[in-house]
Amino acid sequence: MKVIVVENYAELSKIAAEMIAEAVTANPNATLGLATGSTPIGCYKLLAEFCQSKRISFAGIKTVNLDEYVGLGKNDVNSYAYFMRSKLFDHIDIDLNNTAIPNGCAEDIVQECLSYEHMLSVLPRDVQILGLGSNGHIGFNEPYTPFDCSTHIAELSSNTIADNSRLFENSDDVPRKAITMGISDILQARKIILLASGANKAQAVYDMVKGKVSPKCPASVLQQHCDCTVIADKSAAALL
Ligand code: F6R
Repeated sequence: MKVIVVENYAELSKIAAEMIAEAVTANPNATLGLATGSTPIGCYKLLAEFCQSKRISFAGIKTVNLDEYVGLGKNDVNSYAYFMRSKLFDHIDIDLNNTAIPNGCAEDIVQECLSYEHMLSVLPRDVQILGLGSNGHIGFNEPYTPFDCSTHIAELSSNTIADNSRLFENSDDVPRKAITMGISDILQARKIILLASGANKAQAVYDMVKGKVSPKCPASVLQQHCDCTVIADKSAAALL
């Protein structure tokens, strides 16, 4: 695991965007695994700028997202499908048919997990972007999720519900379940870039980088990946 500590969020976003731009330039038909949440927003904004200035193109790029809340439709402002359109897809030249996000409103969510898992098996990710939960989760793989799990329905921990409630009118509105790629799916990516920003991530960053590899901190499994880069700002890296 390579750890890059940067001064602030702007620098983190810049380095991440440059790494993704490099991957897209090297392989214009690459498949990217994408995350939502606050952390990648700056990186996505820069990628949109790179695309608008014609430095890179997403015309041949495919994307697969990590997760989606169960019960939120793609036009719900709190859904991750809406997030991806508003933060990235609406601003780049990607073909929306080449983007995949689990359907949180599928009639049969168990079947939706199986279909998503099948799609992942035929769409290996060249680069996977990850954020980090303050409890060490990646995707919605909460603490004690087995490392070998595939796409599944996750129960959000009280910690994650509290963290994510900032984006909802009140905490009762935060969905209690999500469809998420499993840890085994995440590990299949050729390259992983994990972004961590802010003091509330410091303990999780420490456990991920220096702790024992254990399901207690799902992100610690990334120590075993052969090409994982962590980009953390100073506050997130404070305990290293
Ligand atoms: C989002 C996701 C989550 C977030 C994590 C950090 O698709 O999979 O694991 O990356 O909860 O969220 P932020 O960036 O909002 O702190």
